Amino acid sequence: MMDFTVLTLFPELIDAFFEHGMISRGIEKKLITGSSINIRDFSTDRHKTVDDRPYGGGSGMVMKPEPLQAAVLYAKKKMPESKVVLMTPQGTRFSQAKAWELSCANEGLIFICGRYEGIDERITSCLVDEEISIGDYVMTGGELASMVIIDSIARLIPGVLGSCESPKSDSFSDDRLEYAQYTRPEEFEGLPVPEVLLSGNHEKIRQWRKRSSLQRTFLKRPDLFRKNKLNLEEKKILMQ
Ligand code: ADE
Repeated sequence: MMDFTVLTLFPELIDAFFEHGMISRGIEKKLITGSSINIRDFSTDRHKTVDDRPYGGGSGMVMKPEPLQAAVLYAKKKMPESKVVLMTPQGTRFSQAKAWELSCANEGLIFICGRYEGIDERITSCLVDEEISIGDYVMTGGELASMVIIDSIARLIPGVLGSCESPKSDSFSDDRLEYAQYTRPEEFEGLPVPEVLLSGNHEKIRQWRKRSSLQRTFLKRPDLFRKNKLNLEEKKILMQ
């Protein structure tokens, strides 16, 4: 059972996420656990302050170290083996490969979601095991990033997805995009479903899907296409 604990100033955002879709199903099935911790609950002053002005001046506020430290230690006490992950645009870029790695390697993950101009550097240096970014853009806080990461890790844990869906055929699992999908009706807006998919010939369908996957990767993500050499079967399929 893998645990996801999210330290945040907006626990309602995270709680709503844990209560919906496949993630809530995974929790019901006891394959994962998910909870939020309100960093403000660990502030000890009258006003429940969690931020302060930056030393050296400048605009914006910085999250104070004491409430964050107390929140992390509280979370670690419950899950001592968990890895502490800071959501920050300065972290290493998240990817499907990273999702696989984190889904295998950990009893749990404790996410720190920053707000304002960031968190006191001493928390990063003393308590954070890994800094992760979900892309080269800046959001107002780490909450959405933590949900992106939890969502993509949780669906890789055996049993979280329905038994028919397998993350093995996902886009990116082998640096290829997934093949085109169709469902009923057989014709929509004058556009038919490719005939081979109605044929029942599994080998032909497999080859068509491989070709579709390669074509899509070439057209939509030439950077991925270039990254991977074509194997013999792929070359043959593309020559047909
Ligand atoms: N917090 C703000 N922007 C972020 C990003 N791009 N990735 C992770 N955490 C963030």
